[in-house]
Amino acid sequence: MNHAKKLYIETFGCQMNVNDSETMFALLKDLEYEPTDSPSGADLIILNTCCIRAKAEQKVYSELGRLKGLKRGDRRVLLGVGGCIAQQEGEKLLKRVPYLDLVFGTHSLHLLPEMVRAAEQGERPSQTDFLDPETRLDLFPRKEAEGGVTRFVTVMQGCDNFCSYCIVPYVRGREVSRRSGDILREIREMTSTGVREVTLLGQNVNSYGLKSPDEPDFAGLLRMVAGVDGIERIRFTTSHPKDISPSLIACFAELDKLCGHIHLPAQSGSDRILARMNRGYSWREYLEKIAALKQARPGIQITGDMIVGFPGESEEDFLQTLSLMEEVGYADLFSFIFSARPETAAASLSDSLTRREKQERLDRLQRLQRGMTLERNRSLVGSIQQVLVEGTSRQGGQLFGRTGGNRVVNFPADPSLIGTMAAVRIVDAFPNSLLGEPQ
Ligand code: SAH
Ligand code: SF4
Ligand code: F3S
Repeated sequence: MNHAKKLYIETFGCQMNVNDSETMFALLKDLEYEPTDSPSGADLIILNTCCIRAKAEQKVYSELGRLKGLKRGDRRVLLGVGGCIAQQEGEKLLKRVPYLDLVFGTHSLHLLPEMVRAAEQGERPSQTDFLDPETRLDLFPRKEAEGGVTRFVTVMQGCDNFCSYCIVPYVRGREVSRRSGDILREIREMTSTGVREVTLLGQNVNSYGLKSPDEPDFAGLLRMVAGVDGIERIRFTTSHPKDISPSLIACFAELDKLCGHIHLPAQSGSDRILARMNRGYSWREYLEKIAALKQARPGIQITGDMIVGFPGESEEDFLQTLSLMEEVGYADLFSFIFSARPETAAASLSDSLTRREKQERLDRLQRLQRGMTLERNRSLVGSIQQVLVEGTSRQGGQLFGRTGGNRVVNFPADPSLIGTMAAVRIVDAFPNSLLGEPQ
């Protein structure tokens, strides 16, 4: 009998990469590769990489350095790099990292099996061409439906926005929306394995369908997904504020299955900086959309992303960001120091702040947010929340799940509740989670 080969994939970066890694496991199963959870002992190691900020990129290169030792051992191990760094560097990566066996870009997943076969024969294949939209849709990698209670479903890929700081359009290519029929089929298949919640995924889901005359817009897609029996909850990420339409806002008032949470990154609270970022909205327009969302769904939880230290950001600009945060009352916020990325427009802007000044701004922003998050979590103490139970939590004897507003709740209960919607009374609040009691 042929012994199965072991495949180890290390995933960096965002949920798109997490999804792509799942696809890679599914594709390589046909070549008799089985997942393993450690690089030592693996026959094939793949790093699925991210280059959104310089730090993310450095992490991948230091991991490559660590893996060099495994390549020197007696056993033959193949090492491949995929994802956004692969897309950016292409064949150059094979020169830069001489012990690398294959490089495949973000549009080349479907070629992975034949590339691995070539690498097994001693070749060093590299493939980082972008595909045209039609071919890409036809080849859209299919994941096998597996269990779990909540799953991500890709609805679109790529990005056409070219925010001046962002490398995503260069490494993921132009926006392409998946066919709604394929999306719905995938979701229906998932429900038959016990999935109760889906998160519709894309770099900019609000522009779903806008380039495809035969497809619905994003609000139309949400309504279709809400019609799938067995799906109890719908989420989506990420939204771009400029593309939030009145019909999408109306979905929050009309669709019970749509969770009361939206991730809506503002990036800055200063119009001068927003313009330099090429974001396409003013802070006032952003706040108007937030107000409309709060009106459509009272109690909606808002989360977002912010960048500090963008080139030219003054203390006044930064204070406007803090005041926008207070005005919105974010439930949670991801915040980053600006990092100049190759090819992007902002990389050539002159930058007058020191590293220390940027760090100090980030610290101030994060302090403000920590206080707001804790206060918001505390305000839930005493309330009864509907929690979709996802699994057992790290604390023994407890289960965990999330509220509609996307807060994590741990509570003691019997594992038979996993996969069900439970009414939980919130009894305590921490910075990153809530503690509850089943009702
Ligand atoms: N498509 C999503 C997410 C993009 S990447 C969106 O548009 O919101 C996730 C976050 O990383 C961004 O929202 C931004 O806050 C941050 N980011 C992207 N490029 C960056 C850069 N060059 N420096 C610092 N932060 C960056
Ligand atoms: Fe990057 Fe802007 Fe596209 Fe988001 S919308 S992926 S921040 S270019
Ligand atoms: Fe990183 Fe690529 Fe996602 S750069 S954030 S893995 S799209």
